[in-house]
Amino acid sequence: MEPISLEVALASFTETWSPRIVTTVNDYDVRVAKVDGEHVWHVHDHTDEFFLVLDGELHISLREAAGERTVVLPRGSVFTVPRGTEHKPYAPAPAAILVFEPTGTLTVGDHYEDLPDHVDATTGHELT
Ligand code: NI
Repeated sequence: MEPISLEVALASFTETWSPRIVTTVNDYDVRVAKVDGEHVWHVHDHTDEFFLVLDGELHISLREAAGERTVVLPRGSVFTVPRGTEHKPYAPAPAAILVFEPTGTLTVGDHYEDLPDHVDATTGHELT
């Protein structure tokens, strides 16, 4: 195992909404992704999902019991989407994020709405 530069990891691919696994912690993956535009409404039934914004700005829309709201995360912000909460990430401009979630977690959750072509349904790709 060697240290991994997130900057180098992010420079190694161009696809958006297609996370790379940079390391694992016990049963969790640390993944980085380039993001731009809309993701898709989805829900993770069994796990919370942690977001850290590395660059740019990420919006996450949430459908909660009280209604729908959107949280805005500037660079350097963290947010955890609770398990069972329907959510849709959105980046108004190219941005980079780090997500921390159990290994095997699908980017589009256990249930999702119509999957656009630009969204990769994956459990994360290896860094190359
Ligand atoms: Ni999610």
